[in-house]
Amino acid sequence: MLSLTLGLLCVALPVLGFPAPPASNLAKDVKESWILGNGSSVSRTSKDPGESAAWSERRQEMGIGEWIALKGVGTVEHLENSDGLWEENKIDILKGSGSTGKMTNWAPPQPKGDVASVHGMQLGSVTRKRVQDSAMGLEHGAECLRRNLPAAIIIGVRKGGTRALLEMLNLHPGVAVADNEVHFFDDDHNFARGLDWYREQMPMSHPKQITVEKTPAYFTSSIAPERIYRMDPGMRLLLIVRDPTERLISDYTQVFHNRVAQGKATAPFEEVAIRESQVNLEYRAVHRSMYDEHLKRWLTFFPRSHLHVVDGERLVHNPPAEVAAAEHFLGLPGHVGPDSFYFNTSRGFFCLRNTTHERCLSESKGRPHPPVRWDVLQLLRDFFREHNDRFFQMVGQTFDWA
Ligand code: A3P
Repeated sequence: MLSLTLGLLCVALPVLGFPAPPASNLAKDVKESWILGNGSSVSRTSKDPGESAAWSERRQEMGIGEWIALKGVGTVEHLENSDGLWEENKIDILKGSGSTGKMTNWAPPQPKGDVASVHGMQLGSVTRKRVQDSAMGLEHGAECLRRNLPAAIIIGVRKGGTRALLEMLNLHPGVAVADNEVHFFDDDHNFARGLDWYREQMPMSHPKQITVEKTPAYFTSSIAPERIYRMDPGMRLLLIVRDPTERLISDYTQVFHNRVAQGKATAPFEEVAIRESQVNLEYRAVHRSMYDEHLKRWLTFFPRSHLHVVDGERLVHNPPAEVAAAEHFLGLPGHVGPDSFYFNTSRGFFCLRNTTHERCLSESKGRPHPPVRWDVLQLLRDFFREHNDRFFQMVGQTFDWA
């Protein structure tokens, strides 16, 4: 009942009992990569677990069948390092499954309570993911996991809150997200690698999950709209926007920090954003905040109904409401609610949680902005006003930064 082809794995899994499939039916050459709490990452390619004494012994000990961890982040509850064996006893997964296994000599011991994440597939015990799947109607006799092209793309805007939106949607069991920005449609080199390469960048997903990727550079790319349209004219597009002046300062702040980290020279915001008392149109970050200029390209290919505009400021202050609207747009049953968030006072942002774990976005999200002179702010706000008005007309929505 199992067939394994490149990128497609179908495993017979009765809903109850999970009897172990014959060893010959087990997956071969499974790639796993782990990011450990100390920031280091390790990966390995498992051999057919049926051929591995450790796995086989463990599987018998646990009396479970095969399951597949899609993805997860969790807290290490117990780790032992003995005789060169690093035994990871339990990781409860924020989204996904628990895992149990025995890993030989491929990772340093991690302290209890450390956070770890797992990507890939392995044998293990079935926990939360299966419960969620059941609730979502994703449970079916045969689980077929494969990499699918995205059904929805977060196209931008850079510094609009794209990571937060992706992570929040990822709390939904019906969603599988590509962790990294893929840059397929805006980068000629990647685009030339073809659709199979693009598909390979996507996570494994159930047939009933939708795959979502985010690459904010798509929004301002002159070629991305047409390329996406040609791949899939039915693509659903998510665009998250915020006050263009705030976005501009955020963009500057990110580049400033990157330059400092690389030991490069920096200039004050006012010097880059303003030239001869005018808004500096040669500053690319200014151009990125002219939302109407970019959106018009998208609307020559896609109908307005294929675009959902997320209010970045509301996502900061009221994430459940904005995520619910996005779920609706994606045709997903409502799942992510107020219980999925808690306010972290030291970060000043909502962070994500499920019944067992809590997690904030990385420190690079929500950095303090530099103070900007009032007259410069005024100049920028005046400059963006007409662009904003055109953008509001295009999307049929207004925002607080009107
Ligand atoms: P700032 O760093 O300017 O505050 P992107 O992921 O597209 O780069 O967007 C980064 C922005 O996401 C941050 O901009 C921050 O305001 C916003 N954001 C929205 N929700 C957030 C959250 N829950 N935690 C941290 N940042 C969040």
